[in-house]
Amino acid sequence: MSLESEDSVTNTRAEQQTENDFYGKAQKYWSEVPATVNGMLGGLGYLNRIDIQGSNMFLRDLKDLGRNTALDCGAGIGRITKNLLMPRFNTTDIVEQDASFTEKAREYCGESDARLGRLGQIYTMGLQEFTPAAGKYDVIWCQWVLGHLTEIDLLNFFRRMRSGLSNNGYLIVKENVSSSNKVEEDKQDSSVTRPLKAYETVIRKGGFRIVKTWRQPSFPKGLYPVYMIACRPTE
Ligand SMILES: C[S@@+](CC[C@H](N)C(=O)[O-])C[C@H]1O[C@@H](n2cnc3c(N)ncnc32)[C@H](O)[C@@H]1O
Repeated sequence: MSLESEDSVTNTRAEQQTENDFYGKAQKYWSEVPATVNGMLGGLGYLNRIDIQGSNMFLRDLKDLGRNTALDCGAGIGRITKNLLMPRFNTTDIVEQDASFTEKAREYCGESDARLGRLGQIYTMGLQEFTPAAGKYDVIWCQWVLGHLTEIDLLNFFRRMRSGLSNNGYLIVKENVSSSNKVEEDKQDSSVTRPLKAYETVIRKGGFRIVKTWRQPSFPKGLYPVYMIACRPTE
């Protein structure tokens, strides 16, 4: 790894090739997954309700949370957009790398319901390439996707997201964490599961302070623990 400047960290050419393979394999994996809630949840569609309930409880406690605009990162077909974010925010944008998922999201989240906010911009691209408009988002929600970013891209992602938040904006991470204290690789979907400490370290390095951490309750035994982490930019 080489340091280019204080703000962005870049790769050598060999690292770039490994990185391309890592993202290419994930793209292939997701292109074969059905564009359904069940597909988004690895066949555990019944977790949707408990997951959204936990996320709602987490958001409810955050101080001075704005209600204008949210961003769903690695949104898939928009399961979180529709069930968690659209009921709370006037507009929800989506970033997702798979075009068939974003197409499905238009249909899944686009149904008109007066109680919901509207679906905004859809960015069909990898998070490693996405830069948000400055000051746009009250919440940037990242769930079950950050394991698909390399360490360098994860750090640079957090650094870019800082400027995308509104004055009282929060970045929320909701991810599986390993209990082994090690980064565990999943060669099947080309992702990693990091220990909680690794997330805490990269979040801080990325320019955030952690204001709240909570373990998702009521998930079945045998799954990775899932943690929600709310972050605010450091001054
Ligand atoms: C486990 S699914 C979760 C989807 C959604 N967050 C949810 O909880 O319903 C992971 C999603 O991340 C997307 N993804 C994988 N790598 C990505 C990347 N580099 N950038 C953006 N999205 C990515 C996949 O296409 C897939 O839609």
